[in-house]
Amino acid sequence: MVLYFSATGNTKYAAETIAEKLGDRSLDLTDRIKRHDYSEIYSNRPFVICCPVYVSEMPLFFMDYIKKVKLAGNRRVYFVFTCGASAGISGGLAKSIVWKKHMIYMGSRFIVMPNNYIASDLFAGSDDGDILYRLETAKLAAQKIALAVKNRKQLKSRHIFLAEKAVTVPLVKLWVRTQQPSTPFHTSDKCVGCGKCVKVCPLNNITLVNKRPVWESPCAHCMACICSCPTEAIDYGNITQNKLKYHANKFLPKQEKKES
Ligand SMILES: Cc1cc2nc3c(=O)[nH]c(=O)nc-3n(C[C@H](O)[C@H](O)[C@H](O)COP(=O)(O)O)c2cc1C
Ligand code: SF4
Ligand code: SF4
Repeated sequence: MVLYFSATGNTKYAAETIAEKLGDRSLDLTDRIKRHDYSEIYSNRPFVICCPVYVSEMPLFFMDYIKKVKLAGNRRVYFVFTCGASAGISGGLAKSIVWKKHMIYMGSRFIVMPNNYIASDLFAGSDDGDILYRLETAKLAAQKIALAVKNRKQLKSRHIFLAEKAVTVPLVKLWVRTQQPSTPFHTSDKCVGCGKCVKVCPLNNITLVNKRPVWESPCAHCMACICSCPTEAIDYGNITQNKLKYHANKFLPKQEKKES
């Protein structure tokens, strides 16, 4: 079974491509994460766990969920990360989570996809041509991963250098503490009070007050709210203004996108 979290559709696309090629099911974990539902997920086929990379790591809330959820049936676990450039140290952390679950770690791969971190200038955005190219190559990469899983092959994880880990772990801690305030979120008059931003937030960070979203903390900066708003009414300070509110569904051909 392919399990995934996706804020802006990249990981969903990769996960569903893998599931389709495997002839297996995929399960969007967002609702379970929101409900803190760690009840058993059973699969008699290997688990393929997919998520985006946040600051060279798995999203912390996702890591926490995977640590706690009970996985039963098949003992083999693969990880697939989607990112704008590199998966950083995510593979190393995945391995230790699987070992602690007394399951068999089958390796990890990362797939480079369009960068969705529009609330930061840390990572370069992509133009339309680059986005389409990245989605196309991501599909091929996902199909290749599915083939390896089908053939019970170990995925060759990226080598993680000790120095890289030593730099990344404190960097993530610093980023969590300093870079994710909710206060800059605001909406324009385009907001129609539909509540989609509330629904997609994995951390239940948003509530509707008088049909307008109000942000609290903590925020993972996943970009689901900004990029899923059907009227593009949300911005984060000035930094997201006049930027593409990236969501893979805006670029995928009709037959390949599913509403989230
Ligand atoms: C908070 C945040 C941090 C990110 N950090 C990285 C990173 O360190 N390296 C990288 O290559 N991409 C990074 N990205 C880009 C995403 O990993 C990438 O666009 C991913 O495919 C998004 O997946 P999704 O559409 O399923 O949410 C980051 C994105 C966000 C929102
Ligand atoms: S998704 Fe957009 S339109 Fe809907 S409530 Fe949120 S901000 Fe308003
Ligand atoms: S409020 Fe933060 S965590 Fe929630 S959807 Fe928006 S960016 Fe993601």
